[in-house]
Amino acid sequence: MHQAPTQLITERLILRRPSLADAAAIYEFGRDSEVARYMDWPRHKDIQDSIEALESFAAEWESGSEFCWAITTKTENTAMGTIACRIESPRADFGYVLNRRYWGQGFATEAVRAVMSWVMSLPEIDRIWATCDTENLASARVLEKAGLQREGTLPRSTIRPNLSSTPRDTFIFAKVRDPV
Ligand SMILES: CC(C)(COP(=O)(O)OP(=O)(O)OC[C@H]1O[C@@H](n2cnc3c(N)ncnc32)[C@H](O)[C@@H]1OP(=O)(O)O)[C@@H](O)C(=O)NCCC(=O)NCCS
Repeated sequence: MHQAPTQLITERLILRRPSLADAAAIYEFGRDSEVARYMDWPRHKDIQDSIEALESFAAEWESGSEFCWAITTKTENTAMGTIACRIESPRADFGYVLNRRYWGQGFATEAVRAVMSWVMSLPEIDRIWATCDTENLASARVLEKAGLQREGTLPRSTIRPNLSSTPRDTFIFAKVRDPV
């Protein structure tokens, strides 16, 4: 079973394991329709949705199936977003979300770089990948800035429940380790 660092520290951020104490902060962005717009989970309607998400994060971490960190700054311990990673050797994938109050300051890119750096330190991983809706230009830009290549489009592959019940086109991005 894989294990992950409980903290990843960058220039401005501390990525740490979330806890139930983060429920209000998670609900603040989980309920925001602009934030949830392109996500593959329904917008949180009640703080109980955020509590259940946090319970899933804890169970997934313990089982090693997915590692979700709260994104916090060094000056503020509030969970301003989350970033989660699944290790399925030789591949790993990740996804992220950030409270709208913190957009446009490079925080998502900084968090992505930290997770990628940890993942690429694992010798068994040769490919790290992520997807985003083809209209989610901010997310596509984050992936590009973090050094992933856009490999193509998966037509009608992902239901974004906050937009429609019809599957939508998805970009796939990846970074691969050079062969030795
Ligand atoms: C996507 C998201 C994580 C970006 O977070 P962020 O901290 O603002 O990202 P960064 O500041 O690191 O980079 C954003 C980049 O997108 C660009 N951008 C933002 N909105 C854009 C738009 N509508 N069109 C094109 N580019 C856009 C910014 O200019 C910036 O690029 P730059 O540095 O070259 O100027 C944030 O918007 C978010 O949480 N959105 C909702 C959840 C989501 O979509 N998650 C990803 C699911 S795949």
